[in-house]
Amino acid sequence: MSARTALRGILPAPLMNLVREAMQAPKLWRVPTAEIRTSVLPRVSAADLSELWAHNEHGRQWREDRARIEAALGSPALLGGVNPGDREAIYRIVRTRAPRRILEVGTHVGASTLAMACALARCGDAGHLTTVDVLDVNADDGPWRRVGSRACPRTLAEDLGVGERIEFVTQPAMEALRAAARDGRRFDLVFLDGDHGAAAVYEEVAAATFVLAEGGWILLHDYYPGARPLFPDGRVIPGPYRALQRLRRETPGLSVRPFGLLPWPTKQGSHATSLALVVRA
Ligand SMILES: C[S@@+](CC[C@H](N)C(=O)[O-])C[C@H]1O[C@@H](n2cnc3c(N)ncnc32)[C@H](O)[C@@H]1O
Repeated sequence: MSARTALRGILPAPLMNLVREAMQAPKLWRVPTAEIRTSVLPRVSAADLSELWAHNEHGRQWREDRARIEAALGSPALLGGVNPGDREAIYRIVRTRAPRRILEVGTHVGASTLAMACALARCGDAGHLTTVDVLDVNADDGPWRRVGSRACPRTLAEDLGVGERIEFVTQPAMEALRAAARDGRRFDLVFLDGDHGAAAVYEEVAAATFVLAEGGWILLHDYYPGARPLFPDGRVIPGPYRALQRLRRETPGLSVRPFGLLPWPTKQGSHATSLALVVRA
């Protein structure tokens, strides 16, 4: 058990939040200033966001696909995966925007991967998803085994008929992002849910702007506005907020648009979501 996991069991949430902040701040200060390409970032209005939830048809399709995904998994819990309320939001974002190319950082058990791939399948034939994890998520002893999933993400995707849409990459996020930029690959949606440390998110968001198609979306998970709790347990994952705080300070025109409350439940009886977009101010 890591020291951090042990402390989590002992310390109350507010104290644990301070420990997390104290551990991350020096790492963030040490990262050299990153180059960033703000010109590709979109302007997104509140109306653009509410439009995402306006399609009843997409809600109905999500309920059907969620049932299929959970039947394939054999366990709906998906420990460490994106919660079902946020998965519905991600599904509807893909469904509404119909991106041709998606890049995901942080595959884990494939909860968000499968939601996005099933949404792509509803959009037509073209959509493709590249998902990156530092671990081999499809290995025999991959994370899927620890959480009691029926099979690895690749097998689940094949069972759901979306296997051909997904490329699984085992590589640290920054290596994958730099390689994609070098090869001139562009994505209409980049979903960052990998290392949640402030230093890592700082570098990944900056690097993501070099693989983003014009007007594409960078979607963050675990963004806690103001580094304040979003859910009743009082826990905060400060890294993404602190990373964006630095990027905003250094980059005029860069901003963040948190999604706030969703029209459906997310976790711990709340409607709050930690999803947020990196946008042009
Ligand atoms: C919170 S989990 C992702 C959950 C996933 N989106 C889901 O819904 O199942 C974070 C994942 O990021 C991966 N990760 C951590 N640091 C990484 C890095 N530097 N590069 C790539 N993946 C990383 C971890 O191995 C872990 O599987």
